[in-house]
Amino acid sequence: MAKLFHFLLLLFIQTISAQVAPAAPAGPTNITQVLEKAGQFTTFMKLLKATQTADRLNSQLNNSNQGITVFAPTDNAFSSLKAGTLNSINSQDQMQLVQFHILPTLYSISQFQTASNPLHTQAGNSDDGEYPLNVTTSGNQVNLTTGVVDTTVSNTIFSDNQLAVYQVDKVLLPMALFGSTAPAAAPAEAPAPSKPEKNVRAGAADSPAGSSDSSADASSAVSLKRKTVEVVTFVVAVIAVSCF
Ligand SMILES: *[C@@H]1O[C@H](CO)[C@@H](O)[C@H](O)[C@H]1NC(C)=O
Ligand SMILES: *[C@@H]1O[C@H](CO)[C@@H](O)[C@H](O)[C@H]1NC(C)=O
Ligand SMILES: *[C@@H]1O[C@H](CO)[C@@H](O)[C@H](O)[C@H]1NC(C)=O
Ligand SMILES: *[C@@H]1O[C@H](CO)[C@@H](O)[C@H](O)[C@H]1NC(C)=O
Repeated sequence: MAKLFHFLLLLFIQTISAQVAPAAPAGPTNITQVLEKAGQFTTFMKLLKATQTADRLNSQLNNSNQGITVFAPTDNAFSSLKAGTLNSINSQDQMQLVQFHILPTLYSISQFQTASNPLHTQAGNSDDGEYPLNVTTSGNQVNLTTGVVDTTVSNTIFSDNQLAVYQVDKVLLPMALFGSTAPAAAPAEAPAPSKPEKNVRAGAADSPAGSSDSSADASSAVSLKRKTVEVVTFVVAVIAVSCF
Protein backbone atom coordinates (compact mmCIF):
# COMPACT_ATOMS: atom_id res chain seq x y z
CA MET A 1 0.00 0.00 0.00
CA ALA A 2 2.82 2.38 0.94
CA LYS A 3 4.54 1.32 -2.23
CA LEU A 4 1.46 2.17 -4.25
CA PHE A 5 1.20 5.54 -2.58
CA HIS A 6 4.85 6.23 -3.26
CA PHE A 7 4.34 5.26 -6.88
CA LEU A 8 1.28 7.48 -7.24
CA LEU A 9 3.19 10.36 -5.68
CA LEU A 10 6.02 9.84 -8.15
CA LEU A 11 3.51 9.66 -10.95
CA PHE A 12 1.93 12.88 -9.75
CA ILE A 13 5.28 14.65 -9.65
CA GLN A 14 6.11 13.34 -13.11
CA THR A 15 2.79 14.53 -14.43
CA ILE A 16 3.38 17.98 -13.00
CA SER A 17 6.86 18.19 -14.50
CA ALA A 18 5.51 16.95 -17.80
CA GLN A 19 3.02 19.78 -17.73
CA VAL A 20 5.56 22.47 -17.03
CA ALA A 21 7.88 21.13 -19.73
CA PRO A 22 7.68 23.06 -22.98
CA ALA A 23 4.78 21.75 -24.97
CA ALA A 24 5.97 19.84 -27.99
CA PRO A 25 3.81 17.79 -30.32
CA ALA A 26 6.42 15.05 -30.53
CA GLY A 27 7.18 13.22 -27.31
CA PRO A 28 7.20 9.80 -25.79
CA THR A 29 4.81 7.27 -27.27
CA ASN A 30 1.31 7.86 -25.99
CA ILE A 31 -0.89 4.79 -25.61
CA THR A 32 -4.10 6.80 -25.76
CA GLN A 33 -3.15 8.33 -29.07
CA VAL A 34 -2.11 4.97 -30.48
CA LEU A 35 -5.47 3.42 -29.59
CA GLU A 36 -7.42 6.48 -30.75
CA LYS A 37 -5.71 6.29 -34.11
CA ALA A 38 -6.40 2.58 -34.44
CA GLY A 39 -10.08 3.30 -34.01
CA GLN A 40 -11.72 0.15 -32.67
CA PHE A 41 -10.55 0.16 -29.07
CA THR A 42 -12.98 2.61 -27.49
CA THR A 43 -13.97 0.34 -24.62
CA PHE A 44 -10.41 -0.62 -23.77
CA MET A 45 -9.40 3.05 -23.81
CA LYS A 46 -12.23 3.88 -21.44
CA LEU A 47 -11.11 1.14 -19.09
CA LEU A 48 -7.52 2.38 -19.28
CA LYS A 49 -8.72 5.84 -18.33
CA ALA A 50 -11.21 4.76 -15.68
CA THR A 51 -8.55 2.71 -13.91
CA GLN A 52 -5.89 5.44 -14.30
CA THR A 53 -3.85 2.92 -16.23
CA ALA A 54 -3.41 5.19 -19.26
CA ASP A 55 -1.49 7.83 -17.28
CA ARG A 56 0.56 5.19 -15.56
CA LEU A 57 1.42 3.53 -18.87
CA ASN A 58 2.42 6.78 -20.50
CA SER A 59 4.66 7.51 -17.57
CA GLN A 60 6.17 4.02 -17.77
CA LEU A 61 6.74 4.49 -21.48
CA ASN A 62 8.66 7.65 -20.79
CA ASN A 63 10.76 6.11 -18.04
CA SER A 64 11.14 2.42 -18.69
CA ASN A 65 13.89 1.04 -20.83
CA GLN A 66 12.26 -2.38 -20.98
CA GLY A 67 9.30 -1.15 -22.97
CA ILE A 68 5.70 -2.21 -22.78
CA THR A 69 3.53 -4.71 -24.61
CA VAL A 70 -0.23 -4.25 -24.68
CA PHE A 71 -2.84 -6.80 -25.78
CA ALA A 72 -5.71 -4.57 -26.79
CA PRO A 73 -9.13 -6.23 -27.06
CA THR A 74 -11.36 -4.78 -29.75
CA ASP A 75 -14.73 -3.22 -29.04
CA ASN A 76 -16.25 -6.36 -30.51
CA ALA A 77 -14.32 -8.43 -27.98
CA PHE A 78 -15.95 -6.49 -25.17
CA SER A 79 -19.40 -6.61 -26.71
CA SER A 80 -19.02 -10.39 -27.12
CA LEU A 81 -18.66 -10.84 -23.38
CA LYS A 82 -21.59 -12.30 -21.56
CA ALA A 83 -23.74 -9.43 -20.34
CA GLY A 84 -22.64 -8.15 -16.96
CA THR A 85 -19.17 -9.71 -17.11
CA LEU A 86 -17.32 -6.48 -16.35
CA ASN A 87 -19.98 -5.48 -13.89
CA SER A 88 -19.48 -8.70 -11.95
CA ILE A 89 -16.08 -7.57 -10.63
CA ASN A 90 -15.26 -4.58 -8.45
CA SER A 91 -13.15 -1.65 -9.58
CA GLN A 92 -9.99 -3.08 -8.01
CA ASP A 93 -10.45 -6.25 -10.05
CA GLN A 94 -11.26 -4.21 -13.15
CA MET A 95 -7.86 -2.63 -12.70
CA GLN A 96 -6.29 -6.10 -12.44
CA LEU A 97 -8.16 -7.09 -15.58
CA VAL A 98 -6.68 -4.14 -17.45
CA GLN A 99 -3.19 -4.74 -16.04
CA PHE A 100 -3.48 -8.36 -17.14
CA HIS A 101 -3.44 -7.09 -20.74
CA ILE A 102 -0.12 -5.32 -20.21
CA LEU A 103 3.40 -6.77 -20.08
CA PRO A 104 6.18 -4.57 -18.64
CA THR A 105 8.51 -5.76 -21.39
CA LEU A 106 8.58 -5.08 -25.09
CA TYR A 107 7.90 -8.20 -27.14
CA SER A 108 8.11 -8.33 -30.89
CA ILE A 109 6.02 -11.09 -32.46
CA SER A 110 9.11 -13.26 -32.92
CA GLN A 111 10.22 -12.74 -29.32
CA PHE A 112 7.12 -14.57 -28.11
CA GLN A 113 8.65 -17.72 -29.54
CA THR A 114 11.23 -17.74 -26.77
CA ALA A 115 9.10 -16.27 -24.00
CA SER A 116 8.66 -18.49 -20.96
CA ASN A 117 5.29 -19.24 -19.46
CA PRO A 118 3.53 -17.77 -17.69
CA LEU A 119 4.24 -14.33 -19.13
CA HIS A 120 4.90 -11.60 -16.61
CA THR A 121 1.90 -9.27 -16.76
CA GLN A 122 1.26 -6.18 -14.69
CA ALA A 123 -1.62 -7.83 -12.86
CA GLY A 124 -1.14 -8.93 -9.28
CA ASN A 125 2.17 -8.83 -7.49
CA SER A 126 5.42 -10.09 -8.89
CA ASP A 127 4.15 -13.65 -8.64
CA ASP A 128 3.25 -14.59 -12.22
CA GLY A 129 1.33 -17.57 -10.96
CA GLU A 130 -1.34 -15.31 -9.48
CA TYR A 131 -2.65 -14.16 -12.87
CA PRO A 132 -1.05 -16.56 -15.34
CA LEU A 133 -1.10 -15.75 -19.05
CA ASN A 134 0.50 -18.30 -21.36
CA VAL A 135 1.71 -17.96 -24.90
CA THR A 136 2.21 -20.55 -27.61
CA THR A 137 3.56 -19.76 -31.04
CA SER A 138 3.78 -21.28 -34.43
CA GLY A 139 5.77 -19.13 -36.81
CA ASN A 140 4.23 -15.71 -36.64
CA GLN A 141 1.05 -16.99 -35.03
CA VAL A 142 0.86 -16.08 -31.37
CA ASN A 143 -1.79 -17.77 -29.24
CA LEU A 144 -2.66 -16.70 -25.75
CA THR A 145 -4.40 -18.67 -23.06
CA THR A 146 -5.56 -17.66 -19.61
CA GLY A 147 -7.11 -21.00 -18.77
CA VAL A 148 -10.51 -19.35 -19.29
CA VAL A 149 -9.99 -17.76 -22.69
CA ASP A 150 -7.92 -18.84 -25.70
CA THR A 151 -7.22 -16.32 -28.40
CA THR A 152 -4.75 -15.33 -31.09
CA VAL A 153 -2.94 -12.08 -31.73
CA SER A 154 -4.77 -10.97 -34.84
CA ASN A 155 -2.94 -7.80 -35.75
CA THR A 156 -0.07 -5.52 -34.83
CA ILE A 157 -1.60 -2.14 -34.11
CA PHE A 158 1.62 -0.36 -33.28
CA SER A 159 5.24 -1.10 -32.61
CA ASP A 160 8.30 1.01 -32.04
CA ASN A 161 11.31 0.60 -29.79
CA GLN A 162 9.26 1.23 -26.64
CA LEU A 163 5.76 -0.02 -27.22
CA ALA A 164 4.04 -2.87 -28.99
CA VAL A 165 0.25 -2.95 -29.19
CA TYR A 166 -1.35 -6.15 -30.44
CA GLN A 167 -4.98 -6.63 -31.29
CA VAL A 168 -6.78 -9.51 -29.62
CA ASP A 169 -10.35 -10.42 -30.51
CA LYS A 170 -11.24 -11.65 -27.05
CA VAL A 171 -10.92 -10.02 -23.67
CA LEU A 172 -8.26 -11.89 -21.69
CA LEU A 173 -10.22 -13.02 -18.66
CA PRO A 174 -7.85 -14.12 -15.90
CA MET A 175 -8.48 -17.42 -14.16
CA ALA A 176 -8.25 -15.76 -10.74
CA LEU A 177 -11.24 -13.54 -11.52
CA PHE A 178 -13.30 -15.64 -13.90
CA GLY A 179 -12.15 -19.21 -13.36
CA SER A 180 -15.12 -20.27 -11.29
CA THR A 181 -17.83 -18.28 -13.03
CA ALA A 182 -16.49 -19.20 -16.48
CA PRO A 183 -18.56 -16.85 -18.59
CA ALA A 184 -19.76 -18.50 -21.75
CA ALA A 185 -18.01 -17.48 -24.91
CA ALA A 186 -20.15 -15.64 -27.39
CA PRO A 187 -21.84 -18.24 -29.58
CA ALA A 188 -21.43 -16.51 -32.93
CA GLU A 189 -17.70 -15.90 -32.66
CA ALA A 190 -15.79 -16.68 -35.81
CA PRO A 191 -12.28 -18.15 -35.51
CA ALA A 192 -9.53 -15.60 -35.82
CA PRO A 193 -8.00 -15.37 -39.29
CA SER A 194 -4.76 -17.30 -39.35
CA LYS A 195 -3.08 -14.75 -41.55
CA PRO A 196 -2.06 -11.54 -39.76
CA GLU A 197 -3.42 -8.43 -41.39
CA LYS A 198 -1.08 -6.21 -43.29
CA ASN A 199 0.65 -3.45 -41.45
CA VAL A 200 1.30 -0.12 -43.00
CA ARG A 201 4.75 1.10 -42.24
CA ALA A 202 4.55 4.68 -41.19
CA GLY A 203 7.49 7.00 -41.39
CA ALA A 204 9.20 8.65 -38.48
CA ALA A 205 6.31 11.02 -37.90
CA ASP A 206 5.97 9.87 -34.31
CA SER A 207 9.65 9.92 -33.51
CA PRO A 208 10.46 11.70 -30.29
CA ALA A 209 12.25 14.98 -30.82
CA GLY A 210 13.98 14.93 -27.44
CA SER A 211 17.65 15.92 -27.49
CA SER A 212 18.83 12.80 -25.71
CA ASP A 213 16.73 10.46 -27.75
CA SER A 214 18.49 8.20 -30.17
CA SER A 215 15.53 6.42 -31.65
CA ALA A 216 15.93 7.92 -35.08
CA ASP A 217 15.76 4.51 -36.63
CA ALA A 218 12.72 3.43 -34.67
CA SER A 219 10.05 2.22 -36.97
CA SER A 220 6.36 2.50 -36.49
CA ALA A 221 4.12 -0.15 -37.82
CA VAL A 222 0.73 1.38 -37.65
CA SER A 223 -2.30 -0.41 -38.82
CA LEU A 224 -4.55 2.05 -40.51
CA LYS A 225 -7.16 -0.53 -41.12
CA ARG A 226 -10.36 0.34 -39.43
CA LYS A 227 -13.19 -2.00 -39.04
CA THR A 228 -16.71 -0.81 -38.74
CA VAL A 229 -17.65 -0.70 -35.14
CA GLU A 230 -21.01 -2.14 -34.48
CA VAL A 231 -23.10 -2.02 -31.37
CA VAL A 232 -21.47 1.11 -30.04
CA THR A 233 -24.50 1.84 -27.99
CA PHE A 234 -24.32 -1.52 -26.27
CA VAL A 235 -20.63 -1.12 -25.47
CA VAL A 236 -21.16 2.35 -24.11
CA ALA A 237 -23.96 1.05 -21.95
CA VAL A 238 -21.80 -1.79 -20.61
CA ILE A 239 -19.04 0.63 -19.74
CA ALA A 240 -21.38 3.16 -18.25
CA VAL A 241 -22.82 0.52 -16.00
CA SER A 242 -19.53 -1.08 -15.07
CA CYS A 243 -17.25 1.90 -14.64
CA PHE A 244 -19.38 4.61 -13.12
C1 LIG B 1 9.69 12.28 -20.02
O1 LIG B 1 10.82 12.11 -19.16
C2 LIG B 1 11.74 13.17 -19.23
C3 LIG B 1 12.95 12.82 -18.37
O2 LIG B 1 12.58 12.10 -17.22
C4 LIG B 1 11.06 14.46 -18.77
O3 LIG B 1 11.95 15.54 -18.84
C5 LIG B 1 9.87 14.72 -19.68
O4 LIG B 1 9.17 15.86 -19.25
C6 LIG B 1 8.93 13.55 -19.70
N1 LIG B 1 7.88 13.77 -20.70
C7 LIG B 1 6.62 13.43 -20.48
C8 LIG B 1 5.66 13.77 -21.58
O5 LIG B 1 6.25 12.88 -19.47
C1 LIG C 1 -1.73 11.29 -24.43
O1 LIG C 1 -2.73 11.63 -25.36
C2 LIG C 1 -3.96 12.01 -24.78
C3 LIG C 1 -4.98 12.17 -25.90
O2 LIG C 1 -4.46 12.90 -26.97
C4 LIG C 1 -3.74 13.28 -23.96
O3 LIG C 1 -4.96 13.67 -23.35
C5 LIG C 1 -2.69 13.01 -22.88
O4 LIG C 1 -2.40 14.19 -22.17
C6 LIG C 1 -1.41 12.47 -23.51
N1 LIG C 1 -0.52 12.06 -22.44
C7 LIG C 1 0.81 12.27 -22.47
C8 LIG C 1 1.59 11.79 -21.30
O5 LIG C 1 1.34 12.84 -23.42
C1 LIG D 1 -3.46 -21.36 -32.13
O1 LIG D 1 -4.87 -21.38 -32.09
C2 LIG D 1 -5.45 -21.84 -33.29
C3 LIG D 1 -6.95 -21.66 -33.19
O2 LIG D 1 -7.44 -22.18 -31.99
C4 LIG D 1 -5.03 -23.30 -33.51
O3 LIG D 1 -5.58 -23.79 -34.71
C5 LIG D 1 -3.51 -23.35 -33.59
O4 LIG D 1 -3.09 -24.69 -33.69
C6 LIG D 1 -2.89 -22.73 -32.36
N1 LIG D 1 -1.47 -22.66 -32.54
C7 LIG D 1 -0.61 -22.82 -31.55
C8 LIG D 1 0.84 -22.69 -31.88
O5 LIG D 1 -0.97 -23.07 -30.39
C1 LIG E 1 0.77 -22.12 -18.30
O1 LIG E 1 2.11 -22.55 -18.32
C2 LIG E 1 2.55 -23.11 -17.10
C3 LIG E 1 4.02 -23.39 -17.23
O2 LIG E 1 4.28 -24.13 -18.39
C4 LIG E 1 1.70 -24.36 -16.80
O3 LIG E 1 2.10 -24.88 -15.56
C5 LIG E 1 0.22 -23.98 -16.75
O4 LIG E 1 -0.55 -25.13 -16.58
C6 LIG E 1 -0.17 -23.28 -18.02
N1 LIG E 1 -1.55 -22.82 -17.91
C7 LIG E 1 -2.39 -22.80 -18.93
C8 LIG E 1 -3.76 -22.33 -18.64
O5 LIG E 1 -2.05 -23.14 -20.05
